[in-house]
Amino acid sequence: MLLEVKNLVTQFTTKDGIVNAVNGVDFNIKEGEVVAVVGESGSGKSVTSLSIMGLIPDPPGRIVNGEILFKGENLLNKGRKEMQDIRGNDISMIFQEPMTSLNPVFTIGKQIIEVILRHENISKKEAKKRAVEILQVVGIPSPETRLDDYPHHMSGGMRQRVMIAMALVCSPNLLIADEPTTALDVTIQAEILDLMLNLKEKMGTSILLITHDLGVVAQIADRVVVMYGGKVVETGKVGQIFKNPRHPYTKGLLKSIPRMDEESETLFMIPGIVPNPLNMPKGCAFSDRCSYCNEECINEEPSLLIDEGNGVRCFLYSKLHERKM
Ligand SMILES: Nc1ncnc2c1ncn2[C@@H]1O[C@H](COP(=O)(O)OP(=O)(O)OP(=O)(O)O)[C@@H](O)[C@H]1O
Ligand SMILES: [Mg+2]
Repeated sequence: MLLEVKNLVTQFTTKDGIVNAVNGVDFNIKEGEVVAVVGESGSGKSVTSLSIMGLIPDPPGRIVNGEILFKGENLLNKGRKEMQDIRGNDISMIFQEPMTSLNPVFTIGKQIIEVILRHENISKKEAKKRAVEILQVVGIPSPETRLDDYPHHMSGGMRQRVMIAMALVCSPNLLIADEPTTALDVTIQAEILDLMLNLKEKMGTSILLITHDLGVVAQIADRVVVMYGGKVVETGKVGQIFKNPRHPYTKGLLKSIPRMDEESETLFMIPGIVPNPLNMPKGCAFSDRCSYCNEECINEEPSLLIDEGNGVRCFLYSKLHERKM
């Protein structure tokens, strides 16, 4: 297993109290696998990825429980310097808005070369050659001349390619992409996704892909992790999740994707809103929006039941399971 996240709890101290943004998350990623994390805004997707990268701002944030095993070693026991070496070299991240992560005052060439030199003991000249090669890989035309461009000279799609190039230049084992295409228009989105899939196939990079877009998930993921209220509520192979979703929340998410083959006037929306993290329901976090909710769901929290690699956190299935046994 490349990455194992076990019972991860990440808190933020706010003026209104402590928020458990990630509240006991478990999932893992195998070598060469693409795992998609989906869930509504505020469900803890970005906090999960920042926790893996060791980039939770402290204060106000803190990882208070759990383990993040990367190739068997707990990243939570690594020092600042060790994490710096791991970032970019073994694990890289692409952020949602490339303009905020590229430095506007340096050329993209300088920025890519700096990443290479930070992690590898090679000459500046060799690093420049590498930078040209990686820009070519991500489909940037005439890379030699583009090295001298500043980020604002480039279109959004090109900047995102540069970000991907920077993330991949040291051949990481794991690429974390947090909404990598949301800021881009649809045709460029498709190109960037193709690019990521290609890279996965050529370099064997595992990908943790965070997205709102279930269409994207269907196209490129092997497995899906559905998050709600800082917890995993369902996990499974992509085919199984789309064909046979089990958690009422996953069913709702899938029902709310527009479909070309159905003539319906209005799109389904899950009723209600995500719970306030300062005031989570006592039982199941989804109970106040769920049409299957009963007494038990309001008072008790279901656990994540794992069965042949597929997991679901819902009393509907724990009952079935008990009956089966
Ligand atoms: N720096 C912070 N201080 C306080 N609370 C925070 C901080 N960062 C995140 N949170 C809280 O943690 C929870 C999870 O946030 P997170 O950014 O992980 O959501 P997300 O699933 O990535 O949502 P989105 O789809 O909108 O990106 C939210 O309730 C958010 O308000
Ligand atoms: Mg986010």
